[in-house]
Amino acid sequence: MVKVDLSGAQPFFDAAGPDYAAAAEAHRLLASGSGAGHEFTGWRDLPRRMAETELKPIVRAARTIRSESEALLVVGTGGSYLGARAAIELLRGGNYNQRPGEHPVYFLGNSLSPDALNELIAVLGDRDFCVNVISKSGGTLEPALGFRVAKALLEQKYGKDGARRRIYATTDANRGKLHDYAVREGWETFTVPDDVGGRFSVLSAVGLLPMAAAGIDVEAVIQAAAQELEGLDLRAPENPAWQYAAARQHLYRRGKTIEILASYEPAFRFMAEWWKQLFGESEGKNGIGIYPASVEFNADLHSMGQYIQDGPRTLMETVVSFETSRTRYAIPFEPGDPEGLNYLAGHDFAEAQRAAASAVKAAHIAGGVPNLGVSVPARDEAGFAALVCFFEMACAISAYMSGVNPFDQPGVEAYKKNMFQQLGAL
Ligand code: PA5
Repeated sequence: MVKVDLSGAQPFFDAAGPDYAAAAEAHRLLASGSGAGHEFTGWRDLPRRMAETELKPIVRAARTIRSESEALLVVGTGGSYLGARAAIELLRGGNYNQRPGEHPVYFLGNSLSPDALNELIAVLGDRDFCVNVISKSGGTLEPALGFRVAKALLEQKYGKDGARRRIYATTDANRGKLHDYAVREGWETFTVPDDVGGRFSVLSAVGLLPMAAAGIDVEAVIQAAAQELEGLDLRAPENPAWQYAAARQHLYRRGKTIEILASYEPAFRFMAEWWKQLFGESEGKNGIGIYPASVEFNADLHSMGQYIQDGPRTLMETVVSFETSRTRYAIPFEPGDPEGLNYLAGHDFAEAQRAAASAVKAAHIAGGVPNLGVSVPARDEAGFAALVCFFEMACAISAYMSGVNPFDQPGVEAYKKNMFQQLGAL
C-alpha cells in the first residue's frame, strides 16, 4: 500500500492541522454516491469488474497484437492517452520503444502537428502494425483525425479486410461516432465504462490493452488495484488518501496554491502528466483549485531548483519514491580521482540518489516549501496499481473537500466546442 509521509509538511500546518473531519465527510459523500458527479464513480470497483469481464479478452487481443505485428499505434488524447503512456514508461522504461526485441507502442492523435505525424510514420517504417483507437465520446477532434491517418496507412498496406482485422476500438459500449463506426466496420471493440470518466479510466481497456501490448502483466495490475482500493476504503486518518488530500487542502488554504509533483525516477515522467490531468481537471473549477505542476529530479534541480528554493512561496512539493530500485550500478573508481569523487566509488547510484533526495528535501523545507512524501515498495505492477488507486481516491476526496464536483470537466467541453466552430471556418 502507498505510504504518505507528512513530516516535511508538519512545520507548515497550523495548530489545528489537516481537517480529517472534512476528509471523512468527503469520503462519505463518495462512498454513499450522494456527492456531485456520483454517476462517474465506477472507477472505485473497476478492477473487480474488469477481472470479471474484459480482462481476459484484453490479454488475448494483446497476445494477437504482439504475435501478428511489430508495433502498435495507439490513437487517443487526454484521459484516453496519458494513463497508458504513463504505465508503459513507468513499468517498461522511457526508452522502451527503442530497446531491441520489444514490441513498440507509439501514440498519436494527441496533437495536430503534421511534423509529429510525419515523424511517427517515418519511425514506423515498413513494420507490421496494428491500431488501437481510443475515444470515450468518439467525437474528439485530434484522435478522430489521427485515426483517419492510421486507418489509411493500414489499408494501404493490408487492404480493407486486412486492415479491419488489425483495428481495435475502445469506446462507449452503446453510442457515439466511434462506436457506430466500429459496429459498421466489424472491428474488435473494448469498452470505456459509462460510469468512469476519461481521467479515471486507466484501469479499463483504455489503459490495459496498450499496456498488455507492451508486455505489462495487466492481470497483476488489476489484482493489486482491487486490493489497494479495498485498503483505501478505510475511514480513519490512517488512510493515506485522507492524509494526502487533507494535507494539500490545508496547505492550499495557507497560501500554497501550486503543487509540484516530483520524482527522482525518470521513468515517472508520464505518471506526472497523468497526475496533472487527474488533479487539474478534477479540482480546477469555480475559480479555485491547486495548480498541478511537475518536475523531474535530479535533472530539474539544475533548471527549476532556484525557483523552488527561492521564488514566490506559493509552492508545496509532493515527492513520489520507490523504496527499492530494480537494478544496481556501482559508482566506478577512477584512477587519479580527477573530480575528487573516488570516496563514492563502490557505492551504488541508488545510495547517491537517496542522499541527494534527503539533502534537497531539507533545503526545500528550510526555504519554505512543504514536502509531502508518497512511496510504494517498488516500480512494478503492484506499485503502479497502488499509485493509480491512491491518487484517484485522494483526488476525489480532495475535490469534495474543496466543494467542487471532481468528475466533470466543463472547461474542456468549452474549448472543444470553440475548436469545431473555428475549423468550420477553414
Ligand atoms: O477528461 C476528459 O474529459 C478529457 O481529457 C478526455 O479524456 C479527452 O478529451 C479525450 O476524450 P475522448 O476519450 O472522449 O476522446
